[in-house]
Amino acid sequence: MSLYFLAVETSCDETAAAVFTDEPVVLANVVASQTDLHARFGGVVPEVAARAHLQRLLPVIDEALRKAGVRLDQVGAVAVHNTPGLVGALLVGVSAAKMLAVVLGVPLIAVNHVEAHVYAARLAAGHDIFPCVGLVVSGGHTSLFHCPGPLEFELLGATLDDAAGEAFDKVAALLGLGFPGGPAVEREAAGGDATAFRFPRSFLHDDRLDFSFSGLKTAVLYACFGQDGKSPLSLPPGRTRPDVAASFQQAVIDVLVEKARRALRRTGLKRLAVGGGVAANRPFRAALERMAADEGAELFIPPLALCTDNAAMAAQAVEKWRRRLWAPPDLDARPNYGA
Ligand code: KG4
Ligand code: ZN
Repeated sequence: MSLYFLAVETSCDETAAAVFTDEPVVLANVVASQTDLHARFGGVVPEVAARAHLQRLLPVIDEALRKAGVRLDQVGAVAVHNTPGLVGALLVGVSAAKMLAVVLGVPLIAVNHVEAHVYAARLAAGHDIFPCVGLVVSGGHTSLFHCPGPLEFELLGATLDDAAGEAFDKVAALLGLGFPGGPAVEREAAGGDATAFRFPRSFLHDDRLDFSFSGLKTAVLYACFGQDGKSPLSLPPGRTRPDVAASFQQAVIDVLVEKARRALRRTGLKRLAVGGGVAANRPFRAALERMAADEGAELFIPPLALCTDNAAMAAQAVEKWRRRLWAPPDLDARPNYGA
């Protein structure tokens, strides 16, 4: 008989719950996006996010259980992303998960949201993918890992400033494309020429596996509006905006793909698992596929719905459950990765 896990995700601006088995097989994956609430502010407002989680989490959990056809009293373990993220937002999920685990008398399992983005690739594959190189490209993180096993994450490199997703969001704001930025930039870029602007590819020829995207964002700002700050804050009409979007997107893709290639070579591994919201970007996925084929490596990249934030990727909890790695009753929310 299967063990049923109920998982909760509230680290940023998606209120999410999922039900999966110990295999793991996902039975339900419900995500209530808060995009509508944050769009008018042009970014996620932490307090608004936390309040919305409070209002939405129980209905989202109910819906996940209903879709899975699992009653609350059949749940055998509760999993929650407790780090990293917005602390007020994380606390809502952590408090709810603790309460459920206590009331049901079942183990509570803490899952790291960044590691879970890599685990989403394992979940989608339906079989073991470790050891592998893990690449997480999200709104808050851009990190490369050596992952000998499903619970072992050795950092190979990370962004020293902005995350790739954050750069997409900021460039979208510069170009007047709205929020959330990633999908909007991808749509705009589809009609543009990626060679029109030569934007910087930071650290591309550097041996380190670290990233930097803040210079790229500034280069886009200067290309659009000039360096003197006196130019009008609007783009010339015509093809400029799609060309800027496409050239920016290509610069991000070139760096991410090349660093992932180096991580494969350095570790000698032939498996690459990619996750996080930016992994939903189609030209990026296509470039990764070409690189992996070049390197004779297998690429594991989840379908779009498992790239952006969700609770199903907390199925990494299954690995912890097998090793009896329960969370303590005083489990806290930790905003920083690795802190
Ligand atoms: O993983 P995620 O949903 O949340 C975090 O953990 O941060 O990632 C969100 C980020 C945002 O910055 C968003 O703009 C970006 O992923 N994103 C994309 C695309 N879809 C989402 N970036 C580029 N292209 C996309 N299609
Ligand atoms: Zn995420």
